[in-house]
Amino acid sequence: MNVAIARTVAELRATVAGWRREGARVAVVPTMGALHEGHLSLVRAALERAERVIVTLFVNPKQFNSAADLAAYPRTEESDAAKLAPLGAHLLYAPDAAEIYPEGFATAVSVCGVSEGLCGAFRPGHFDGVATVVAKLFLQTGADFAFFGEKDFQQLHVVRRMARDLDIPVAVLGRPTVREADGLALSSRNVRLSPAERQAAPKLAAVLFETAARIAGGAPVDETLADARAAIVAAGYASVEYLELRAEEDLAPMQSFDRPARLLAAAWLGETRLIDNVKVLPGPKA
Ligand code: PAF
Repeated sequence: MNVAIARTVAELRATVAGWRREGARVAVVPTMGALHEGHLSLVRAALERAERVIVTLFVNPKQFNSAADLAAYPRTEESDAAKLAPLGAHLLYAPDAAEIYPEGFATAVSVCGVSEGLCGAFRPGHFDGVATVVAKLFLQTGADFAFFGEKDFQQLHVVRRMARDLDIPVAVLGRPTVREADGLALSSRNVRLSPAERQAAPKLAAVLFETAARIAGGAPVDETLADARAAIVAAGYASVEYLELRAEEDLAPMQSFDRPARLLAAAWLGETRLIDNVKVLPGPKA
Protein backbone atom coordinates (compact mmCIF):
# COMPACT_ATOMS: atom_id res chain seq x y z
CA MET A 1 0.00 0.00 0.00
CA ASN A 2 1.15 3.56 -0.72
CA VAL A 3 1.74 6.06 2.05
CA ALA A 4 -0.89 8.84 2.15
CA ILE A 5 0.45 12.28 1.22
CA ALA A 6 -0.71 15.66 2.58
CA ARG A 7 0.41 18.85 0.80
CA THR A 8 -1.32 21.51 2.87
CA VAL A 9 -1.61 22.44 6.54
CA ALA A 10 -5.41 22.05 6.25
CA GLU A 11 -5.13 18.45 4.96
CA LEU A 12 -2.55 17.64 7.63
CA ARG A 13 -4.67 19.08 10.45
CA ALA A 14 -7.83 17.29 9.25
CA THR A 15 -5.98 13.95 9.24
CA VAL A 16 -4.47 14.52 12.68
CA ALA A 17 -7.86 15.61 14.09
CA GLY A 18 -9.35 12.29 12.93
CA TRP A 19 -6.54 10.38 14.65
CA ARG A 20 -7.03 12.38 17.84
CA ARG A 21 -10.75 11.48 17.90
CA GLU A 22 -9.66 7.81 17.92
CA GLY A 23 -7.35 8.59 20.87
CA ALA A 24 -4.14 7.99 18.90
CA ARG A 25 -0.77 9.42 19.95
CA VAL A 26 1.13 11.09 17.13
CA ALA A 27 4.85 11.12 16.36
CA VAL A 28 6.65 13.16 13.72
CA VAL A 29 9.95 12.54 11.94
CA PRO A 30 11.05 15.78 10.25
CA THR A 31 13.21 15.23 7.15
CA MET A 32 14.37 16.94 3.99
CA GLY A 33 13.90 13.71 2.05
CA ALA A 34 16.56 11.62 0.29
CA LEU A 35 15.68 9.08 2.94
CA HIS A 36 18.32 6.60 4.03
CA GLU A 37 18.53 3.96 6.74
CA GLY A 38 19.18 6.66 9.37
CA HIS A 39 15.78 8.25 8.65
CA LEU A 40 14.10 4.85 8.46
CA SER A 41 15.46 3.93 11.90
CA LEU A 42 13.78 7.10 13.24
CA VAL A 43 10.50 6.09 11.59
CA ARG A 44 10.71 2.63 13.21
CA ALA A 45 11.41 4.22 16.61
CA ALA A 46 8.44 6.57 16.10
CA LEU A 47 6.16 3.65 15.22
CA GLU A 48 7.11 1.97 18.50
CA ARG A 49 6.18 5.09 20.45
CA ALA A 50 2.96 6.30 18.82
CA GLU A 51 -0.06 4.87 17.04
CA ARG A 52 0.27 7.33 14.16
CA VAL A 53 3.48 8.53 12.51
CA ILE A 54 3.96 11.50 10.19
CA VAL A 55 7.14 11.89 8.15
CA THR A 56 7.65 15.43 6.90
CA LEU A 57 9.53 16.12 3.68
CA PHE A 58 10.47 19.72 3.10
CA VAL A 59 13.76 20.99 1.69
CA ASN A 60 13.87 24.11 3.82
CA PRO A 61 15.39 27.03 1.88
CA LYS A 62 15.91 29.04 5.09
CA GLN A 63 18.56 26.68 6.45
CA PHE A 64 20.85 26.66 3.40
CA ASN A 65 23.80 29.03 3.24
CA SER A 66 24.17 28.97 -0.50
CA ALA A 67 21.73 28.85 -3.41
CA ALA A 68 23.99 26.27 -5.10
CA ASP A 69 23.82 23.94 -2.07
CA LEU A 70 20.01 24.29 -1.99
CA ALA A 71 19.75 23.58 -5.72
CA ALA A 72 22.06 20.53 -5.44
CA TYR A 73 20.11 19.00 -2.55
CA PRO A 74 18.63 15.65 -3.71
CA ARG A 75 14.86 15.64 -4.27
CA THR A 76 13.56 12.09 -4.42
CA GLU A 77 9.96 12.19 -3.19
CA GLU A 78 8.78 9.17 -5.18
CA SER A 79 11.46 6.83 -3.87
CA ASP A 80 11.11 8.33 -0.36
CA ALA A 81 7.39 7.49 -0.38
CA ALA A 82 8.19 3.98 -1.63
CA LYS A 83 10.60 3.47 1.30
CA LEU A 84 8.02 4.61 3.85
CA ALA A 85 5.10 2.47 2.67
CA PRO A 86 6.45 -0.94 3.82
CA LEU A 87 7.40 0.46 7.22
CA GLY A 88 3.80 1.46 7.91
CA ALA A 89 4.29 5.24 8.29
CA HIS A 90 0.81 6.78 8.22
CA LEU A 91 1.34 10.09 6.45
CA LEU A 92 3.95 11.87 4.37
CA TYR A 93 3.56 15.61 4.79
CA ALA A 94 5.25 17.19 1.76
CA PRO A 95 4.25 20.85 1.50
CA ASP A 96 5.72 23.25 -1.05
CA ALA A 97 7.64 26.37 -0.08
CA ALA A 98 4.59 28.66 -0.46
CA GLU A 99 2.65 26.54 2.04
CA ILE A 100 5.38 26.85 4.68
CA TYR A 101 6.45 30.42 3.88
CA PRO A 102 3.45 32.17 2.32
CA GLU A 103 3.70 35.65 0.83
CA GLY A 104 4.57 38.10 3.62
CA PHE A 105 6.07 35.52 5.98
CA ALA A 106 8.17 37.58 8.40
CA THR A 107 8.93 35.51 11.50
CA ALA A 108 12.18 33.85 12.55
CA VAL A 109 12.88 31.67 15.54
CA SER A 110 16.37 32.18 16.89
CA VAL A 111 17.84 30.06 19.67
CA CYS A 112 20.81 31.61 21.51
CA GLY A 113 23.55 29.65 23.26
CA VAL A 114 23.35 26.16 21.76
CA SER A 115 23.15 27.57 18.20
CA GLU A 116 26.47 29.36 18.65
CA GLY A 117 29.84 27.82 17.76
CA LEU A 118 30.35 24.46 15.99
CA CYS A 119 28.16 24.44 12.84
CA GLY A 120 26.58 27.74 13.92
CA ALA A 121 29.93 29.50 13.53
CA PHE A 122 30.38 28.31 9.93
CA ARG A 123 26.78 28.38 8.71
CA PRO A 124 25.35 31.79 9.66
CA GLY A 125 21.56 31.71 9.96
CA HIS A 126 21.40 27.93 9.51
CA PHE A 127 20.00 27.15 12.95
CA ASP A 128 17.50 30.04 12.75
CA GLY A 129 16.22 28.37 9.59
CA VAL A 130 16.06 24.98 11.30
CA ALA A 131 14.38 26.32 14.46
CA THR A 132 11.84 28.30 12.42
CA VAL A 133 10.77 25.40 10.21
CA VAL A 134 10.78 22.82 12.99
CA ALA A 135 8.66 25.11 15.23
CA LYS A 136 6.17 25.35 12.36
CA LEU A 137 6.20 21.57 11.79
CA PHE A 138 5.62 20.96 15.51
CA LEU A 139 2.69 23.41 15.56
CA GLN A 140 1.22 22.17 12.29
CA THR A 141 1.38 18.47 13.21
CA GLY A 142 0.63 18.90 16.92
CA ALA A 143 2.77 15.79 17.46
CA ASP A 144 3.33 14.33 20.92
CA PHE A 145 6.79 13.00 20.01
CA ALA A 146 9.44 14.09 17.52
CA PHE A 147 12.42 11.99 16.47
CA PHE A 148 15.82 13.34 15.36
CA GLY A 149 19.14 11.65 14.58
CA GLU A 150 22.09 12.30 16.87
CA LYS A 151 24.33 12.78 13.82
CA ASP A 152 23.06 16.37 13.86
CA PHE A 153 23.77 16.63 17.56
CA GLN A 154 23.81 20.44 17.73
CA GLN A 155 20.52 20.55 15.81
CA LEU A 156 19.00 18.18 18.38
CA HIS A 157 20.02 20.59 21.16
CA VAL A 158 18.67 23.60 19.25
CA VAL A 159 15.31 21.91 18.61
CA ARG A 160 14.99 20.75 22.25
CA ARG A 161 15.73 24.24 23.58
CA MET A 162 13.30 25.82 21.09
CA ALA A 163 10.43 23.45 22.02
CA ARG A 164 11.07 23.97 25.74
CA ASP A 165 11.34 27.76 25.44
CA LEU A 166 8.19 28.09 23.31
CA ASP A 167 6.17 25.66 25.49
CA ILE A 168 5.46 23.41 22.53
CA PRO A 169 4.14 20.21 24.12
CA VAL A 170 6.27 17.74 22.20
CA ALA A 171 8.88 15.30 23.53
CA VAL A 172 12.01 15.70 21.39
CA LEU A 173 13.79 12.36 21.22
CA GLY A 174 17.26 11.68 19.79
CA ARG A 175 18.33 8.36 18.29
CA PRO A 176 21.90 7.12 17.66
CA THR A 177 23.68 7.78 14.38
CA VAL A 178 23.36 4.95 11.87
CA ARG A 179 26.65 4.05 10.18
CA GLU A 180 27.83 2.16 7.13
CA ALA A 181 29.75 -1.07 7.84
CA ASP A 182 33.03 0.92 7.54
CA GLY A 183 31.88 3.50 10.10
CA LEU A 184 30.84 6.39 7.82
CA ALA A 185 27.80 8.15 9.30
CA LEU A 186 24.81 7.93 6.94
CA SER A 187 24.02 11.28 5.34
CA SER A 188 22.11 12.45 2.30
CA ARG A 189 25.33 14.21 1.28
CA ASN A 190 27.33 10.96 0.98
CA VAL A 191 25.99 10.44 -2.58
CA ARG A 192 28.08 13.45 -3.64
CA LEU A 193 31.37 11.70 -2.80
CA SER A 194 33.55 10.43 -5.65
CA PRO A 195 34.70 6.79 -5.34
CA ALA A 196 38.09 7.95 -4.00
CA GLU A 197 36.44 10.33 -1.51
CA ARG A 198 34.04 7.59 -0.42
CA GLN A 199 37.08 5.44 0.43
CA ALA A 200 38.66 8.18 2.53
CA ALA A 201 35.39 9.29 4.18
CA PRO A 202 35.21 6.73 7.05
CA LYS A 203 38.53 8.01 8.42
CA LEU A 204 36.64 10.91 10.05
CA ALA A 205 34.61 8.52 12.21
CA ALA A 206 37.67 6.34 12.86
CA VAL A 207 39.67 9.34 14.13
CA LEU A 208 36.74 10.50 16.28
CA PHE A 209 36.37 7.08 17.95
CA GLU A 210 40.15 6.80 18.50
CA THR A 211 40.35 10.34 19.89
CA ALA A 212 37.37 9.78 22.19
CA ALA A 213 39.08 6.68 23.59
CA ARG A 214 42.34 8.59 24.15
CA ILE A 215 40.57 11.47 25.92
CA ALA A 216 38.52 9.06 28.02
CA GLY A 217 41.79 7.34 28.91
CA GLY A 218 43.18 10.59 30.33
CA ALA A 219 45.10 12.07 27.36
CA PRO A 220 45.33 15.90 27.43
CA VAL A 221 42.41 17.36 25.47
CA ASP A 222 44.13 20.14 23.48
CA GLU A 223 47.07 18.08 22.20
CA THR A 224 44.86 15.10 21.43
CA LEU A 225 42.47 17.27 19.39
CA ALA A 226 45.43 18.77 17.49
CA ASP A 227 46.67 15.23 16.65
CA ALA A 228 43.16 14.30 15.49
CA ARG A 229 42.87 17.34 13.18
CA ALA A 230 46.21 16.41 11.59
CA ALA A 231 45.10 12.77 11.18
CA ILE A 232 41.88 13.81 9.41
CA VAL A 233 43.82 15.96 6.93
CA ALA A 234 46.44 13.21 6.46
CA ALA A 235 43.57 10.86 5.55
CA GLY A 236 42.65 13.03 2.55
CA TYR A 237 40.22 15.60 3.95
CA ALA A 238 40.87 19.10 2.56
CA SER A 239 40.28 20.85 5.89
CA VAL A 240 38.76 20.50 9.33
CA GLU A 241 36.23 23.22 10.13
CA TYR A 242 36.02 22.29 13.78
CA LEU A 243 36.82 19.42 16.08
CA GLU A 244 35.75 20.08 19.64
CA LEU A 245 34.96 18.45 22.94
CA ARG A 246 31.60 19.63 24.28
CA ALA A 247 29.40 18.68 27.23
CA GLU A 248 26.75 16.12 26.31
CA GLU A 249 24.10 17.90 28.36
CA ASP A 250 24.36 21.51 27.15
CA LEU A 251 27.16 21.61 24.54
CA ALA A 252 29.35 23.78 26.78
CA PRO A 253 33.02 23.78 25.65
CA MET A 254 35.27 21.48 27.73
CA GLN A 255 39.01 21.87 28.31
CA SER A 256 39.21 18.67 30.35
CA PHE A 257 37.15 15.51 30.37
CA ASP A 258 35.26 15.84 33.65
CA ARG A 259 31.67 14.98 32.65
CA PRO A 260 29.77 13.13 29.90
CA ALA A 261 30.91 14.58 26.59
CA ARG A 262 30.72 14.50 22.82
CA LEU A 263 33.47 14.97 20.32
CA LEU A 264 32.02 16.85 17.35
CA ALA A 265 33.60 17.55 13.97
CA ALA A 266 32.92 19.06 10.56
CA ALA A 267 35.39 18.53 7.74
CA TRP A 268 35.55 19.05 3.98
CA LEU A 269 36.24 16.13 1.69
CA GLY A 270 36.64 17.68 -1.75
CA GLU A 271 33.48 19.77 -2.25
CA THR A 272 31.47 17.90 0.38
CA ARG A 273 31.13 18.98 3.99
CA LEU A 274 30.68 16.06 6.36
CA ILE A 275 29.80 16.21 10.05
CA ASP A 276 29.98 13.53 12.70
CA ASN A 277 30.15 13.15 16.47
CA VAL A 278 30.80 10.43 19.02
CA LYS A 279 30.16 10.04 22.74
CA VAL A 280 33.14 10.23 25.05
CA LEU A 281 32.61 7.57 27.67
CA PRO A 282 34.69 7.21 30.83
CA GLY A 283 37.25 4.42 30.34
CA PRO A 284 40.42 3.04 31.90
CA LYS A 285 42.89 5.86 32.67
CA ALA A 286 46.02 5.74 30.48
O1 PAF B 1 17.85 17.36 9.73
C1 PAF B 1 17.15 17.75 8.77
O2 PAF B 1 16.92 17.03 7.81
C2 PAF B 1 16.59 19.15 8.78
O3 PAF B 1 17.47 20.04 9.39
C3 PAF B 1 15.19 19.25 9.45
C4 PAF B 1 15.26 18.88 10.92
C5 PAF B 1 14.22 18.33 8.73
C6 PAF B 1 14.65 20.68 9.35
O4 PAF B 1 14.52 21.09 8.03
